[in-house]
Amino acid sequence: MRSLTKAVTLAALMFAGATTAIAAPVTIKFAHVVAENTPKGQMALKFKELAEQRLPGKVNIEVYPNSQLFGDDKVLEAMLLGDVQLAAPSLSKFQKYTPELQVFDLPFLFKDMDAVDRFQQGPVGQKLLTSLNKRGLLGLGYIHNGMKQMSANKPLRVPADAGGLKFRVMTSDVLVAQFESIDAIPLKKPFSEVFTLLQTKAIDGAENPWSNIYSKKFFEVQDYITETNHGVLDYMVVTSARFWKSLPDNVRTELKGAMDEAIAFGNKVSDEKAMSDRQRIIDSRRSTVIEITEAERQQWVDAMKPVWKQFERKIGKDIIEAAVQANK
Ligand code: LMR
Repeated sequence: MRSLTKAVTLAALMFAGATTAIAAPVTIKFAHVVAENTPKGQMALKFKELAEQRLPGKVNIEVYPNSQLFGDDKVLEAMLLGDVQLAAPSLSKFQKYTPELQVFDLPFLFKDMDAVDRFQQGPVGQKLLTSLNKRGLLGLGYIHNGMKQMSANKPLRVPADAGGLKFRVMTSDVLVAQFESIDAIPLKKPFSEVFTLLQTKAIDGAENPWSNIYSKKFFEVQDYITETNHGVLDYMVVTSARFWKSLPDNVRTELKGAMDEAIAFGNKVSDEKAMSDRQRIIDSRRSTVIEITEAERQQWVDAMKPVWKQFERKIGKDIIEAAVQANK
């Protein structure tokens, strides 16, 4: 009798153990490279809040900002290996996976962020979200940061001012071509190294949106920032197809809903930050913000626009044309 009781107790314990194992929350690591007080940083935290609220005990979202877990050069490989589940690299970082997203790097393609948004939400932009599927990655949505500005330790009013200077670029051949078109020297470097490279004068300049210039203190090591608005820095939120499909249907649906809301929230932050971080930089008096004239701006456009033709076949003429149409 005593051994029967023991066996029943053991079976009960094993059952309880098995139940606990099944109910263990899914850990989702979200790695990114920027600070928390940026549109992407805020979006990631909002996603954590919403997902954990809506799926109590079922998911555990760990957000790693500031390249703490992976830089953008490693994060997609790590995702395919299952070491991280979510990331939102800038659209310039996908060249190794698909050429089409390079459309976003073409200089002076979008007149403002509304045009970028129209393109992303239109049929071509939505189709581009699937351009990574063949590589085992899923695009869950776009998130804005903003238009990029040029910075250096000398005033850049016209392209000739940038000639011979070394600029850090993201890992995109379009961005390399963009700087070569003005006789500058582009260097592909990870985001985590930009501050030190500028501080030590290993490079002369960079291109960044206001929130990155402010949150990473680039304005403290660059005397001038020219408001060129020459390109866009936006992101795609990605996950691994295998991980996403492994989730129970209800969990996947809730997570997608939370992500859509977090993205909408992040986009609002990006609108506000483009203005407020620009003003904070001006108020700091650490760097001079240069506004260029229409004629000076036209010189940048004329110098850089031939880059479109250079990449037309790679990216696809129809994709570029759809982006141009989004300006109307
Ligand atoms: C960069 O490398 O400059 C950007 O991708 C950083 C970011 O994520 O905004």
